[in-house]
Formats: sequence, structure tokens, C-alpha cells
Amino acid sequence: AIAMENALLYKETKDFSIKLEKEVKKATRDLRKANAQLKKLDAAKSEFISIASHQLRTPLTVIKGYISMMLEGNFGGLTKPESESLEKVFESNERLIQLVENLLNISRIESGRLQFNYQQVDMNNMVASVKEELAANAKKKGLILQYKAPAKPVPTIKLDDEKIRQVVMNLMDNGIKYTKQGSVTVKLEQKENKIQFCVTDSGMGIRPEDMGNLFKKFSRGSGTSLIHTEGTGLGLYVARMMIEAHHGRIWAESGGEGKGSKFCFELPVK
Ligand SMILES: Nc1ncnc2c1ncn2[C@@H]1O[C@H](COP(=O)(O)OP(=O)(O)O)[C@@H](O)[C@H]1O
Ligand SMILES: [Mg+2]
Repeated sequence: AIAMENALLYKETKDFSIKLEKEVKKATRDLRKANAQLKKLDAAKSEFISIASHQLRTPLTVIKGYISMMLEGNFGGLTKPESESLEKVFESNERLIQLVENLLNISRIESGRLQFNYQQVDMNNMVASVKEELAANAKKKGLILQYKAPAKPVPTIKLDDEKIRQVVMNLMDNGIKYTKQGSVTVKLEQKENKIQFCVTDSGMGIRPEDMGNLFKKFSRGSGTSLIHTEGTGLGLYVARMMIEAHHGRIWAESGGEGKGSKFCFELPVK
């Protein structure tokens, strides 16, 4: 009787394992199929973002050109309300251009199509010119924007001018954007075999719980004052990608909410 029972048990176990094997095979097949579909979907999404961004960038650049000409008085003098309104249009358009630029960069990074154009670049000039570009924004908010240039200019380094300039621009723009009063101070210096760039502001600061998410895609802080500030949470993510592609490091420091922030990156000097 025991032998009989054993034989039955053996058959049952064998049937079960055959069934199990079949199910695992089917599940694996389903997963492979789903994975292939996801990959296709992801490629389509990247493609869509890329095409949409290109199509958006062209008209936005045209708008920028005409608004600039109007503001410069190329079509005749402007009344104060006219120029003030046009300036608002210009600023909104700039935000849109930045957003499209970020989306384009992200789709390129994620599909491995981002190309770098390395050349010897003088960061002293780069930082000074970005500061000039943002001076009016800071002034409008009553902020002191200062640039502590290195006593001895930093050496030129090999980098993609446009991409690193974008990072410098975003960090300084954030400093101004997230500061209600006080100052935004920019510093450039050589530290041994690295060039370090930092922006220190007296603004809203960063909550400790937000620190770990700053450089992630679409991530914005959790403070209430943030709701009233325009932004997409893409700038720092793109910045991190760009700096890491240059074998550098980017980070943030803050004493906490309301205590101001400091954002720095460093790039190796070769
Ligand atoms: N200087 C700063 N002071 C305080 N918070 C900042 C500062 N810069 C960035 N942050 C926080 O990091 C988030 C991500 O920044 P970013 O990627 O540039 O996005 P965005 O500028 O579109 O909000 C911001 O939404 C904000 O919460
Ligand atoms: Mg930003």
C-alpha cells in the first residue's frame, strides 16, 4: 500500500512540475513580448519628444527675433506700456525656449544621441557673459548679483561650450528665481586639478527631505512658495547629465528652509 501511495505521489509531483514548467515558459514569453512592446513605446516616445521639440523651437526662435527687434525700436518708438508688455512676452517666450531645449536634451540623452562638441573654453569669459545676461533679471527683483572672479584667471579647459554654459545659466537663473531678497553670488576658482563654479544665494533654501531629489527628472522642491514660481524641474537633471558627461561632479548645500542655498560643480583640468 505504501508503494502504491508513493507511486501516486510521484506521479502527482511530476504532473505538477510539468505544469509549472509550462506556466513559467508562458510567463517568460509574455514578459519578453511586453518588454519588446515597452521598448518600442519608449523609442516612439523619445522620437515624439524630439520631433515635437524641433517643431516648437523654430517658431519660438522666430518670435524671439521679432520681439527683440520691436524692443530695440526697429519698428518705431514704443510707449512704456507697450515695451513692458513686450518684455513680458519676451520673458515667457524665453521660458518656453528653455523648456523645449531641456526636453530636446533629455530625449537625446535618453536615446544616446546627445553629441558633444569639445573645444578649449575660457570659463572666465563664459561666467562673466552669463552674469551680464542675467543682470537685468536680478536688478528687477532688487537682488545684488555679484561675480567673484578668480584673482588669477582659471586656465582654459576642454568642454562643450554651449552645454556647460547652459548649466551655468540654469544654476544662476535658479539662484535668482528662488531668492526674494538679498544676493546671488557667483564664484569661479581653480582648486588643485579642478575648476570649481559655485552660486550662493540668500533665498528660500532647501528642505533636508528635498535634498536627495533635486537632480532627478521633473523633481521640484516641496516648499509652499514654490507653487508660485514657474518651473519644470528639468534644469538640474539636465545639468547633472551634462556635468557627468564631462567627468565632473555637481552638488547642492543648504542650511534648510529659508537659509539660502549653494549649488556647485567642478570639472577636471587636464
Ligand atoms: N537656488 C535654489 N534655491 C532653492 N531651491 C532650489 C534652487 N535651485 C533649485 N532649487 C530646487 O530644485 C528644484 C529643481 O530645479 P530645476 O531642475 O532647475 O527646476 P526648476 O527651476 O524648473 O524648478 C527646484 O524646483 C527647486 O525646488
Ligand atoms: Mg531651473
